[in-house]
Amino acid sequence: MTADFQDWARSRQERIETYLETLLPPSNVAPERLHDAMRYTVLGGGKRVRPLLAFAAGELSEANEDRLTIAAAAVELIHAYSLVHDDLPCMDNDVLRRGKPTCHIEYGEAIALLAGDSLQSLAFQLLAEYSLADTSQTQLEMIKRLAQASGSRGMAGGQAVDLASIGKTLSLPELEFMHIHKTGALIRAAVMLGAYCGSPMKEIQLMNLDHSAKCIGLAFQVVDDVLDAEASTATLGKTAGKDAENNKPTYVSILGSSQARELAEELRRDAYRSLEIFGEMAGRLRQVTDFIIQRQF
Ligand code: IPE
Ligand code: IPE
Ligand code: MG
Ligand code: MG
Ligand code: MG
Repeated sequence: MTADFQDWARSRQERIETYLETLLPPSNVAPERLHDAMRYTVLGGGKRVRPLLAFAAGELSEANEDRLTIAAAAVELIHAYSLVHDDLPCMDNDVLRRGKPTCHIEYGEAIALLAGDSLQSLAFQLLAEYSLADTSQTQLEMIKRLAQASGSRGMAGGQAVDLASIGKTLSLPELEFMHIHKTGALIRAAVMLGAYCGSPMKEIQLMNLDHSAKCIGLAFQVVDDVLDAEASTATLGKTAGKDAENNKPTYVSILGSSQARELAEELRRDAYRSLEIFGEMAGRLRQVTDFIIQRQF
C-alpha cells in the first residue's frame, strides 16, 4: 500500500465515521438500549471497505464528496446490519466481531435483531431523504440497486444458501453463486452507487464498471474464506477457523488456500481489464481492489 493510498483511505474513513456518528440517534434518546446497540455495532470499527469503494467509484464520475458520503454510509449501514444478523446463534453463532463481543452477546438477541432491522431502515431513509444524483430517475435507480443487493436476490438470498449448505460439498458454480450473493452483491452496489452520485455514465462504462465490481465482490469473499482459515483471531477481530468449525463449504474447503488465493488474483486481473476503459481515473478503484486482495484481516 502506498502512503498516498493510506492517506486517502484514512481521510475517507474519518469522513464516514464522523458522518455516521452524527447520523445515528444518541444513546440517551429513547429507546436508549436500541440506539446504543446501533451505535455499538456501527461506530469505531471495521475497514470501511464498501465506503472506500463508493468513494473510489465516485472519482470515475467526478461525484461530489457530500453525496458520496451519504451513499457510502447507506451501504455501510446495510453491511453493519448484515454482520449483526450473521453473528446470531441462528446463523453463524459468533461471539466476537471487530474485536468486541457481538451485538447479541452485549445486548441480547432481541435487541440485536431490532438493531439490524433499524440499521437497514436507516440506510433506505438516507437514500430517500437527500438529493444524491443529478436526476430523480438515477436516484431511484440507486434505491433499487441497494434494495436488490440486500434482499433475497442479493445478500439475504446468499445467506440463505450459506445456511442451507452447511455440511455439504458445493460445486464451484454453486459456491460462486453463494459468494456473489451473500457478499458480492453489496460490494457491487457500493461501487455502482458511488458512480451514480456523479455525472451520468455511458451504458458501456456502466457495464464495465458493474463487471469489475462483480469480480471485486467475489474476490472479497474468497479472501475472507482464506483469512478465516489462515489468520488469527487477534488479527481478524473475529473468531478464526469458524468456517471449518461450522462445517461451511468455502473456497478453502473446496480448492485449498493457495488455489483460492490464485482465484482472487485472477479476479483482480479480470476487474482490472474491465476498468481499462476508464484509464487513469480508475486509479483509486484499482488501489482499493489491491487492498481487498492483499489485506491481512
Ligand atoms: C465481513 O466483512 C463480512 C463479510 C462480508 C465477509 P468485512 O471484512 O468488510 O468486515 P468489517 O466491516 O471490516 O468489519
Ligand atoms: C458474511 O459472510 C456475509 C454477510 C455478513 C452477509 P461470513 O459469515 O463469512 O462473514 P464473517 O466471516 O462472519 O465476517
Ligand atoms: Mg456467515
Ligand atoms: Mg459469519
Ligand atoms: Mg467469513
